[in-house]
Amino acid sequence: MIPKKIEAILNDQLSFELYSAYIYLAMAAHLKFMGLNGFANWMKVQAQEETVHGMGFYTFIIDRGGKVELKAVPQPKSDWKSALVAFEGALEHECLVTSRINKIAALAEAEKDFATKNFIQWYIGEQVEEEANATEIINELKLASNSREALLMLDREKAMRAFVFPVIPGGLKAPGAAAP
Ligand code: FEO
Repeated sequence: MIPKKIEAILNDQLSFELYSAYIYLAMAAHLKFMGLNGFANWMKVQAQEETVHGMGFYTFIIDRGGKVELKAVPQPKSDWKSALVAFEGALEHECLVTSRINKIAALAEAEKDFATKNFIQWYIGEQVEEEANATEIINELKLASNSREALLMLDREKAMRAFVFPVIPGGLKAPGAAAP
């Protein structure tokens, strides 16, 4: 059985991942409105990934015999001054996610909940990638700051990002994936 404290923190994070999806979807919609279709695509794919991150928690809580309780998802912002400001917001948000994931790992350790400790490892690694991705795009956007051409070139590049179903050990399986 899952310890109550762990069940509570995992439920909080489930909803926070859905909040992340909501933020990225709002960023996608705004970037699309600005005519930056490639950056909008990048954000939309990110929103899809965040939904799967949330579903990873959903599946794990249930598999441990816990009860999923969904929380209210706050309304995200709806506009950002530029693509750079949006991605800076994304990095700030990811740093917050990292601190929340680290708290889960610390609690799992304190509670000697080894299954959760094992499960959360994937998210710890994922956060390194999430922060690195946002930082890389911020740096690119800063380099392109005085060039409309460079911005459009980056926009075209970001249009190439395609959604790949994240495989989370102990979490949700990709549709059609073979059972382990
Ligand atoms: Fe699911 Fe971007 O953290």
